[in-house]
Amino acid sequence: MNITIIGSGYVGLVSGICFARLGHNVTCIDNQEEKIHTLNKGEIPIFEPGLKEMLADARSNNLISFSSDLSAHIANCDAVFIAVGTPQDEDGSADLSYVLTAAQEINDLCLDLNKKDLILVTKSTVPVGTAEKIKKITKNSGLKIASNPEFLREGNAIEDFMKPDRVVIGCDDELSSEALRKIYSPLTEVRIVETDTKTSELIKYTSNALLATKIAFINEIANLCEKTGANIKELSKATGLDSRIGEKFLNVGPGYGGSCFPKDVNALIRTGKDNEVNLSIIDAVESSNVNRKKSMAHRIISQLGGLDQAKGKVVAILGLAFKANTDDIRYSPAIATTKELVKHGIAIRASDFEAIKNSKRELANEDGINYFVDPYKAIENTDLVAILTEWPQYSELDIARIKESMRGNIICDLRNMLNKQEVESYQLQYDYIGKYQNND
Ligand code: UDX
Repeated sequence: MNITIIGSGYVGLVSGICFARLGHNVTCIDNQEEKIHTLNKGEIPIFEPGLKEMLADARSNNLISFSSDLSAHIANCDAVFIAVGTPQDEDGSADLSYVLTAAQEINDLCLDLNKKDLILVTKSTVPVGTAEKIKKITKNSGLKIASNPEFLREGNAIEDFMKPDRVVIGCDDELSSEALRKIYSPLTEVRIVETDTKTSELIKYTSNALLATKIAFINEIANLCEKTGANIKELSKATGLDSRIGEKFLNVGPGYGGSCFPKDVNALIRTGKDNEVNLSIIDAVESSNVNRKKSMAHRIISQLGGLDQAKGKVVAILGLAFKANTDDIRYSPAIATTKELVKHGIAIRASDFEAIKNSKRELANEDGINYFVDPYKAIENTDLVAILTEWPQYSELDIARIKESMRGNIICDLRNMLNKQEVESYQLQYDYIGKYQNND
């Protein structure tokens, strides 16, 4: 089928390239000419493992192109997916301006072209009821409106698209249902869950909010382990073995970040308020996570002996991205922690495998930060090494080399990547999430 995708960011780009892998003819639209130019050269402006190779395949099969001109790619289009951003507004609500602008543009083009067979699909994460808003905009053009939320994890997006746990399609008419089922039909093994647009829109927020809840919950249980002496690693494992709970998203850390969980949790809270429904649990998840991210810098400072002792010290920050296998630093706990440490006069030697370029831009106004791709370079002559992102390479770090290279002896492992016995065998002070703060 002929598919046009509006918005060539993390979601639009992965979806477009994967739709092409399914054999569809895809045009990805974006208003950033430079991005379109990069993509038409076969380059990928984001880090997503495997995406560059898939783009090359799609281009060699003439199944994908990139343009900034939507009007030229509607006439022969079967379905247009809106994958533009829905950033968080001041009041926490999702900013729908880009979505509604795109819908208006598509509507006007359909009227001009007298095109009556187009399906408009929201892939962006949009609050429940957005399809109804779009229908008001497009009522004169005969456009059919559907919802098809994505469940792509950055760094794992291709697998999440090509082997999803389910594809959710929200359709309020037969034409949309047929079109979306046809689009996803090459994914023969996949379970298609069809519902109406409102339910589909809320499934997305419910899924993300529940995943965020699991993370915030296990992080709070880790706080209890630190007071009681229970073993967080064994607790997470044993709890997750209950098939009703599941082992995933029970890894402790500095709090969740990213372009989705914080935004979507706040948007859901806003939806609750707008509908006078008290979503007290998700409210608590948001404040728990915000407080946790803030507390990490002070955890590091206390390891250095408190504010006065910490001033002038040098700290290695291993990991700047909000998670492993991405260059994305949006809402990253590592970035927030780095800013807070700099504020207290601590010098930073920061390391990340993919996120240094984005971090330098975000931290441009911060003094006293040096950047290194090689974590061992960052560790040189530091008083404390803090791990903030779960890059798998950090679990392979050579502790003897760290010991030799540091001038201090403190490791603050906020992702529990290292082995406690091994670290302590080198007479290093090892702080980690869930460590028993036994003050006896
Ligand atoms: C998330 C959802 O997983 C995905 O389905 C949705 O489409 C977009 O939002 P993403 O934000 O890319 O994906 O990353 P994810 O892997 O979910 O991690 C989000 C944050 O939670 C990261 O900061 C990660 O480090 C943290 N996390 C994740 C934990 O702290 N513990 C875990 O066990 C899992």
